[in-house]
Amino acid sequence: MIYDEYLTTAELQRWILESDVSWNSIDRELALTQPALLEQIRDSALIESYFPVYTTNLVQACWDQIDVTSVFSVQLYESYKHFYALNRYLEVVGYRPITDSELIEIRGRNVRNHVDDAVRELARYMISEHFAAYFFLRLSQQAKEPVLRQLAAFIAKDEFRHTQFAYDLLAPRLRGNEDACRRVLEAGANFKHVGADVVSRVPVSSKNDFQAILTLDKKMHRLTGISISEFSQKDIHAAY
Ligand SMILES: [Fe+2]
Repeated sequence: MIYDEYLTTAELQRWILESDVSWNSIDRELALTQPALLEQIRDSALIESYFPVYTTNLVQACWDQIDVTSVFSVQLYESYKHFYALNRYLEVVGYRPITDSELIEIRGRNVRNHVDDAVRELARYMISEHFAAYFFLRLSQQAKEPVLRQLAAFIAKDEFRHTQFAYDLLAPRLRGNEDACRRVLEAGANFKHVGADVVSRVPVSSKNDFQAILTLDKKMHRLTGISISEFSQKDIHAAY
């Protein structure tokens, strides 16, 4: 079962908040020389803080699907940890740490987001995590402050695993199911990042991250037998 494998991978790759991140050696001055980057950290922390509500809504839509719910229990633990670690970083450097009332405001806006199509939502999640993984990977290279580089690299590794398990959950649901494939491709063609529920501008790795887009297109092709670009073309032709 997918849970065995996912849990074991997650546990083997786990980084420990208190001992693996060198909190005591954060170079505050250096961190503050990149305010635009810190603002992106803040937005991504807000997105990660949303998962207790997002995951609950998704799990409610597929409460009887043991694979989805078990894997998401690990995902929820890791995502909230991302929020906590990123916000602690903002606290240490003294750059606009997030308050509880901000979290509650975001939750209030999203607590009733109903998931009617779990397959489509899983696809949206998979794509969002794909972009998040590239964002944290680039952050680990762009940040000058060494502890932020380290933290971003840990998170990137978790996000690549998250997008992969969403893929693994989707694959058996799409096999021989043309309608499900179409819904996944639609989610890709009309993509709205999960983070857009939370912040007005979702942090991205770079304006046109071709590597991220290219690898996503390949992933969608492997999953559905057709790439998003081919699907969008077909869709446009069907409309005329
Ligand atoms: Fe994630």
